[in-house]
Amino acid sequence: MCGIVGYIGYREAYPIIIKGLERLEYRGYDSAGIALFDGSGINLSKTKGKVEDLKAKAEASISIEGSLGIGHTRWATHGVPNDVNSHPHYSNSGNLVIIHNGIIENYGAIKEELQNRGYTFSSDTDTEVLINLIEEVMKKEGVMLGKAVQIALNQVVGAYAIAVFDKEKPNEIVVAKLGSPLAIGVGENEFFIASDASPFIEFTNNAVYLEDEEMAVIRLGKEIKLRKIKDDSIAYPLVQELQLNLEEIEKGGYDHFMLKEIYEQPHAIKDTYRGRLRSAQGIIKMAGVDDHLQEFMDADRIIIVACGTSWHAGLVAEYIFENLARISVEVEYASEFRYRNPVITDRDVVIAISQSGETADTLAAIKLAKEHGALVFGVCNVVGSSIARETHAGAYTHAGPEIGVASTKAFTTQITVLTLLALKLAKERKAISEEDFTAYMLELEEIPAKVEKALESNAIVEIIAEAYKDSSNCLYLGRGYNFPVALEGALKLKEISYIHAEGYPAAEMKHGPIALIDDQMPVVVIATKKGHYEKVVSNIQEIKSRHGKIIAVVTEGDEQVRDLADHVIEVPETFESLTPLLTTIPLQLLSYHIAVMRDCNVDQPRNLAKSVTVE
Ligand code: M6R
Repeated sequence: MCGIVGYIGYREAYPIIIKGLERLEYRGYDSAGIALFDGSGINLSKTKGKVEDLKAKAEASISIEGSLGIGHTRWATHGVPNDVNSHPHYSNSGNLVIIHNGIIENYGAIKEELQNRGYTFSSDTDTEVLINLIEEVMKKEGVMLGKAVQIALNQVVGAYAIAVFDKEKPNEIVVAKLGSPLAIGVGENEFFIASDASPFIEFTNNAVYLEDEEMAVIRLGKEIKLRKIKDDSIAYPLVQELQLNLEEIEKGGYDHFMLKEIYEQPHAIKDTYRGRLRSAQGIIKMAGVDDHLQEFMDADRIIIVACGTSWHAGLVAEYIFENLARISVEVEYASEFRYRNPVITDRDVVIAISQSGETADTLAAIKLAKEHGALVFGVCNVVGSSIARETHAGAYTHAGPEIGVASTKAFTTQITVLTLLALKLAKERKAISEEDFTAYMLELEEIPAKVEKALESNAIVEIIAEAYKDSSNCLYLGRGYNFPVALEGALKLKEISYIHAEGYPAAEMKHGPIALIDDQMPVVVIATKKGHYEKVVSNIQEIKSRHGKIIAVVTEGDEQVRDLADHVIEVPETFESLTPLLTTIPLQLLSYHIAVMRDCNVDQPRNLAKSVTVE
């Protein structure tokens, strides 16, 4: 869950690496570091804190010259976040330096062995063990850095994306990948290394994505040659042309990425269905589904695996699939699924949902499902990500880069793509009438404009946020399609404002949570007109009689709930199954404003990282 950046070429490496680390801070931000080769030696600076702290420290304490360098922004696994545990790490001789994203699981045993041979360690990290193992291999086997990295990696268990260089051979950087992402930007007589392409997008749009168990010695003046770490066989790099542009990864006038991404949703949803939803022809085109239509048709059930917000999107999809396509669906936390010996057959279709496409548990769940013969279909946002590559087929959400740690547009675009899939299967399975199918397609096309309208609630949401920003707890209630939205609303609030929040199906309140309600408890209730409306109104009455503070998300024009609630937020009317695309908008805004008012770091909440690439 860390971000790594490297550069070798003819430009000054320092500004490229610092800018790159800032763009990768979404991956981890508890410490940062940089190592530069200035023509005669390595200058290294690292610190607990953010990239801006690193910048201040490096510029005050080391020479920042040189056109070879590596940098790291960390989400701590082994060892607390402090200066010493920050990357890069030196080998004992001081010749080698490494950055690492991942975990070396057997580092304890290797460390002991190295200590027996006289190696000393200043940090608590697994990474310092790895760089010394590489050094030991170089000494013992008399091999060059590339070979030593390969031999060392064959001895470790775990996950890694690494970049290493040797000050005695400053014309090359050695990189390797297993389980953590690594992209190489290929320029004219220069190379960039990064966890994703954002650090080098303004310099080149040609990139090579390493596959698992691949490594490369990146040497100036030479073409990239990839090798398999296990057997040394040569793999031919596929140079991909990137679609990303700089604007997409900048804040564009918004105070925070999260707010920008909330406001991007009308556009992002349209991008998700563009080319797929062909209402004039009365069809939904999804190449990944068409290629495997028979497996979808023959499926006994769909199993959805995901984590966090993506899991919530999966829960919404469960309601949609079962209702529209009449296919039985199970939704699983990927982290539980992978370890609980689940029953999976070749008649199951497993759908893996992931914004980043790098979530370790989701990846492991996919591998397990594949071993059991299931068709695995990915719903990812990041093009070319590990999950996108590991699945048999899939559909991208096309939401554009999501940089705020709190997922927003990923959620609504995941629901959009899953709705398209459900409708397509419903039609193929003849579970929906032509008339309803057409009506759904037309209504989906209205959704971007309705999301725009829902965003107009911002001003009222800001007032509500002011009233409840100091609360210590908050309940979120919803039923049916909006139960997962309640979960998602609660997750958004806790992760960025650090207010304890719980989401429940509204009817469950009586089975426990109602005991929490008093005049200090804000309760956010999703009470849209369609689906269980009267029952939710009864739930609101129950909260009111216990003096809870009711913040209701209602359908435009609703008067009944307005009379009962302390605050109402209106969203446009739509089909019941599409309401999550609208009701989630004010909940995103509510958590955003509360977090800003509480002076929290909205885009980089404490202890979190955008891609959870460790289990
Ligand atoms: O990249 P993924 O969609 O696989 O990530 C899954 C979760 O880590 C993610 O949704 C997380 O819960 C977000 N921080 C929620 O806002």
